[in-house]
Amino acid sequence: MLRYIGGSESDGHFSVINEACSMFAHTNPLHLDVFKSVARFEAEVVAMTAALLGSKENSSGGQICGNMTSGGTESILLAVKTSRDYMKSKKGITRPEMIIPLSGHSAYDKAAQYFNIKLWRVPVDKNFQADVKAIRRHINKNTILIVGSAPGFPHGIIDPIEELGRLASSFGICFHVDLCLGGFVLPFARELGYPIPPFDFSVKGVSSISVDVHKYGLAPKGTSIVLYRNHEIRKVRQ
Ligand SMILES: Cc1ncc(COP(=O)(O)O)c(C=O)c1O
Repeated sequence: MLRYIGGSESDGHFSVINEACSMFAHTNPLHLDVFKSVARFEAEVVAMTAALLGSKENSSGGQICGNMTSGGTESILLAVKTSRDYMKSKKGITRPEMIIPLSGHSAYDKAAQYFNIKLWRVPVDKNFQADVKAIRRHINKNTILIVGSAPGFPHGIIDPIEELGRLASSFGICFHVDLCLGGFVLPFARELGYPIPPFDFSVKGVSSISVDVHKYGLAPKGTSIVLYRNHEIRKVRQ
């Protein structure tokens, strides 16, 4: 059986999770006045995750914000919709397009259909990484978003996040980093001294991140986070 935690550690871990879930299984965050602790849990989990992913770096401006969602796909859908609406308000783009490496998750295909965005799927390079030059060639005046994964699902390869960040910054477009798999691995691998290239909000140009608590965050299925660089990007727009 595939598990995100293995060996004898999993027994104790699963019993803690089961106990915690049973205590809150009947809460509903819709009623924040009744279930105040649920709102607080969300705020704390978002803040802890943001701190792992660059909110403490000076370059992030200290405004990183976000929400919990039901999974990586929902986090990606929200990030894409937010990018579309932000680019409409900032640049007046009404026929949005986004450029995704072939290795990017299928959630972007769903987002393209749901939110009426033209999707360009661009081949990866010989190392199976996002091909920055190929992405650059697809950028036009309607481009709202480019994407990198750290790592991507099919190959487990980290895309060149810094290069993609520079590209997004130079065109003034959004850049989403899919950390659904890597968000709770890479910060610790870096701490252990592995040569992990920059992948989070410390990279200029990253506008949003998806990160799954229900994968290597070791929480049960149905918990993910979408983070935005600042409140201006997250703001709800019509
Ligand atoms: C890199 C990556 N992004 C997004 C997702 C989608 O996450 P979910 O299955 O929670 O919707 C996955 C799932 O495996 C993934 O590996």
